[in-house]
Amino acid sequence: MADLKIRLSVQINSFKYPDGTQALSDIEVNISHGEFIGILGSNGSGKTTLLKIMDGLMKDFEGSAYLDGADIKKLSPKEIYSKAGLVFQNPDDQLFAPTVFEDVAFGPINMGFREDEVITRINNALKDVDMQEYAKKSIHNLSFGQKKRVCIAGLLAMGHEILLLDEPTAGLDPMGEYKMMNLLTGLNKDKGVTIVMATHSVDLVPLFLDRLYILSKGCIVRSGIPEEVFTAPDDMANVRLRLPQIAELIYKLRHEDNMPFEKIPLTIGEARREILKTLRS
Ligand SMILES: Nc1ncnc2c1ncn2[C@@H]1O[C@H](COP(=O)(O)OP(=O)(O)OP(=O)(O)O)[C@@H](O)[C@H]1O
Ligand SMILES: [Mg+2]
Repeated sequence: MADLKIRLSVQINSFKYPDGTQALSDIEVNISHGEFIGILGSNGSGKTTLLKIMDGLMKDFEGSAYLDGADIKKLSPKEIYSKAGLVFQNPDDQLFAPTVFEDVAFGPINMGFREDEVITRINNALKDVDMQEYAKKSIHNLSFGQKKRVCIAGLLAMGHEILLLDEPTAGLDPMGEYKMMNLLTGLNKDKGVTIVMATHSVDLVPLFLDRLYILSKGCIVRSGIPEEVFTAPDDMANVRLRLPQIAELIYKLRHEDNMPFEKIPLTIGEARREILKTLRS
């Protein structure tokens, strides 16, 4: 469960890329210890840019960013990576070693763990993402989804307290998507890892995330628990997103067919209860 200690606090008045693109403005994001947070936004809304700023990779923004109260602009990469790690959106930007095993080994070796500890960490991390059979395989020959899972294993092996994940489920098959979200939920709930993930998977969000921020054209336009953030279909369309499909169906039944639903459920489970209640009344 989240407690009140703020781990990450970011205020960005403005961030422009060198070519003049205004990527972020009016951003205020506070992440407490133990939260599982989503940054939800359409393509080009600024999700990756925001995660990179949180990981200290880009410091020339107008505003401030703090990690456990320390100014990220002044922290060294090592000080940041001892607590927080970012998994890139594109696995090819992250993976570089010849084999799966060597890639996952890189982090824990650099963190100075003993050899037997490194091996245990690699094996556990590969098992967590279901890639233990691929340890000796060449990175080049992995599928996209497999590469993505190896990237996550690389971070898990380091044991960060804060994980920043850029579209961790993009490119995974439906089962892989659920397995990944369940793995992340386990890390969050059982091991207390604070997680911030960028995504545009609206159907997954209400099942797993505590709280989210909606990013549109570089600005935070809404934030809160999923029930507060998912509003009417038109509002979602304005930020180039949609409601979860089940919510869209119930919304239409209520507003176009006058079915007396009291609330708009966001998940299949909630929808099932709401439908049974409405049919029985
Ligand atoms: N290196 C760069 N130089 C110039 N502009 C950039 C650069 N990287 C991103 N941008 C621009 O900044 C804006 C935000 O991009 P960003 O990659 O953060 O969006 P995103 O929400 O992660 O999108 P996606 O869902 O496609 O990953 C976009 O308009 C993009 O074109
Ligand atoms: Mg992105």
